[in-house]
Formats: sequence, structure tokens, C-alpha cells
Amino acid sequence: MKSKFKANEYIASNRGAVCHKYRHTYHAMPEIGWCNDPNGFVYYGGKIHLFYQHNPYGAGWDTMHWGHVTSRDFISWEYQPVALAPDMPYDVGGCFSGSAIEKDGMLYLMYTGLDSENNQQQCLAVSQSGVEFTKALNNPVITSAMVGEGMSVKDFRDPYVFRRGEHYYSVIGTKVNDRGNIALYRSDDLIEWEFVGYCMNSDKPQEDNYFELNAVYECPCFMQLDGQDILMCSPQFLPQQGSEFENVHSVVYMVGKLDLESGRFHYDTFHELDGGFDFYAAQSTTLPDGRTVLTAWMQMWDRNIPSQEDGWAGSMVLPRELSFRDGRLYQQPVREILSYRANEVERTDIALGQQPVRIAGVSGDTLELLVTFECGDADVVGVKLFEGKEHETLVYYDVQAGEVVLDRSKSGVAIAGAEAQNATRRVCAGKQLETLSLRIFLDNTSAEVFVNDGYAVLTANIYADEADEGISFYALGGKAKVKKVTKYDILAK
Ligand code: FRU
Repeated sequence: MKSKFKANEYIASNRGAVCHKYRHTYHAMPEIGWCNDPNGFVYYGGKIHLFYQHNPYGAGWDTMHWGHVTSRDFISWEYQPVALAPDMPYDVGGCFSGSAIEKDGMLYLMYTGLDSENNQQQCLAVSQSGVEFTKALNNPVITSAMVGEGMSVKDFRDPYVFRRGEHYYSVIGTKVNDRGNIALYRSDDLIEWEFVGYCMNSDKPQEDNYFELNAVYECPCFMQLDGQDILMCSPQFLPQQGSEFENVHSVVYMVGKLDLESGRFHYDTFHELDGGFDFYAAQSTTLPDGRTVLTAWMQMWDRNIPSQEDGWAGSMVLPRELSFRDGRLYQQPVREILSYRANEVERTDIALGQQPVRIAGVSGDTLELLVTFECGDADVVGVKLFEGKEHETLVYYDVQAGEVVLDRSKSGVAIAGAEAQNATRRVCAGKQLETLSLRIFLDNTSAEVFVNDGYAVLTANIYADEADEGISFYALGGKAKVKKVTKYDILAK
């Protein structure tokens, strides 16, 4: 039987063996071993808590524990003891994803327990210290006997708990009659739960075409932002549509209205949240200061992960502040990152042509880069990152298409997955303007590209050589310019 004690002992004795070559400096990641989804992202006891799906014993996915880090600013993370281990009959197959909520001064974790037959049921653990968690005596609190009609008990996971008015609610990913869906449950005390209904249309799936998939809508999350109800989830195997959903699994959000009586979520459209390569299982939380902040796993299933050789795998994105404008979610890096800026270099009005231009002082692999292009008559304006003798990662604006493209085909170690196409990802940049602004964060092996003030984001892991620290700017098919570029090193460690 696995236990927290064994996991923590193992981590303490083996953390020294992890090789640091690909590790980040300002992104949350496990000390050792594997991590996937963020879980229980919450502010409690004056700190930000972030739990994650964790296998401490190896750099591949295996029986899930909950790892735990805390922070005061989303940037510097402190490791805490493993919070949950699969040590009870109802979760012996793994403590799968879930969420956290404060109630009566205590921190509750709600997660999915897998029993020895892979039945998925919802469980609770509670803590006053925010460090040591005790599983509830009443576990599982939502059993296989409490599922709705047509629901699969083997696909019933990732509860996201929230409060509305007098009640607690939980949205849970599932399949109903072999189609992806999300179930809504209600409780007065987090212990006794009742099934309310399905968020998605399960009677007439043809009316919600995206929900015809025979796959789970993993990791649902509910938030209210600027008066809107927003339901986010990670549907498996969503088919590609134009330049959206190119990864094997996607994160989407829907804007609409959650009917708390029927469970139905009424919405019109849904959008992909991040158009890059490595982004999954996003979860958000609302802070006491009113901000809603999102994190996500900065990886994708079914890909090779070079850091596995080094004894670890998986990390989280730089958390993002969310806002709702013009019918869509805007994402901005948390403002706390500003305190980590150092060594500013700023230049203006640099003419661009086909020959890439380097700028003195603008280089590195752990930094923030703000650049505004004037597109002029060029077809393409762009920046090369992680540039070295053999490698480059391109981020460019395809002016005709109105899309920003991230190309990692020559980045370094090749990353391949189940997808048809592993070279590029592209997102609509918003209104076609004569200028384009990018705000890019690099952290040794990652790139997060915020387009036009957070209208779109592309996230990717990049495994270049250590010496690949060059940055240059270019235009194709005409003349353009860099109106302004600012670089800051990010010094977190
Ligand atoms: C999503 C997911 C969840 C599940 C967890 C298991 O990435 O498949 O649905 O709870 O990972 O680690």
C-alpha cells in the first residue's frame, strides 16, 4: 500500500538525483517524478496553494498522489509534503484530479478516488494547517450509486467545487450514454450530495455538436467573471476545426448561464483557451482581492518528454489573470511577475527586412520580452527565440491570415505526439491591425506568448541546447519595423 510517509521519505532521499538541465526557474513543477493536472488551486491561510497530480516514484504517470506547493506570489513556490496518497480501499487505484474550497476556516480537498476496480467516486480530505490532510470518514461522499441516468461509473472524475448562495456545487467530468458530459451535484455541507443534472444537452446531443464525442470532458471548472457564467473543461479528442483544437486534447471555455435547478449550462459558442502545444487541465480560482487566476498543466498527453531522462516531468504555466471583454476571455500573466524583472533593455524603431536583426542586450532564455511590430507591407513579421547554431523557435504574425504562429520544428529535441502535425500551432490575433504586440515569457525550456494584450496565448515547451540564447527579429515579403522592444531578465532563483 502506498502512503504519504513513504512518498515523502522517497522524495527526501532521491530529490538530489534530479538533473536540472531542463528545469524552470519561475514555474511550479514537482521536485522529482511526474506531475500532470493542477488540482486544488486555492487561496487559504494567507497563501496560494497548488496541488497537482503526482507520481513521486518515477517520471512517468502511475498511481496518482497529490503533490503540493505554496506561494505568496505565484512565482516563488515552496514544496510541501505530499497531501494525498492512495492509501484507502476507495482510492487505492489513485487520487485523481479535484479542487479545493475553504469552509468554516478549514481547507477541503475534493478529489476522485479510484477503487481496485477502477470505479471513480468523489472523496474529501480536510485540513486546518493547510499542510496535513485527513480523509473524511464518510468517503466516498459521491458514490457510484449516486450517478445520474446513463452515466458511466468508470468515467466520473475531477470534481470542481464552488459555492453559490446557500449551497455548494460540484461540476464533474463524465460520459452519459457514451457521450462526453459534465454533471452538476449540490450539497449543503460538502458531505451529503445530491445529483442535480447534466450541464450538456444529453437528450439531443446533435444540438450541441461538440458534445457528441465518445470521450470524457475532463477537469471541468466553473467561474463567474464580470457578470458572466463561464464553464471551462478539457475535452479529450476534440476534432481539429481550422486552427483550433490541433492538439489531441484541448481546453475550452463556454460563456453562458448555469441553471442551478436543472444543471443545464446554456451557451452559444466555445473557444480554445490556449492555441499552443502544451496546455491542459486548466483550473481557476478567485482571490480575496477579486482577481480570477488560472493555471494549467504545461504539457500534453501522449508526447515524448525529454526531462523524463532527468527524473522529472511536467510543470504548470505562469498563472494568468482572467478578464472578460468583448465576449471572450483575456489572459494576462499575474502582475506579481513584475517584481522579478531585472536588467531592462529597451530600443525603438528598428527597421526589419529578411535579414534577421539582433539587438545588443536582447538575448537569453529566462526572460520577458515585449515587442510591438509595425507590419508595414510585410507578409510576415516575427521573432526567433532560443536561437543557436542549429536551432531556432519562430513566433511570427502571418499578416494575411491574421494569425500568430509558433513553430518549434527546429527548436531542439523533437517533440512528437499523437497529432497529425507537430511543427506549428496558430491562433487568430484578434482584429487585423497594422501593429501586433507580443509579450513573451521564456523559462529555460518554455515559451508563453501573449498576443495583443492577452486576446490569445500560445504555450510550448522548447528543448534547445543550453547555448541557444539568441533572439532576433525579422520580416518577410516587405518592410516592417519593431516599433518598440523591451527585454527584462526574470530573476527568480
Ligand atoms: C486529465 C486526467 C484527469 C484525471 C487525471 C489522472 O489530465 O486524465 O481526468 O483525473 O488526469 O491523472
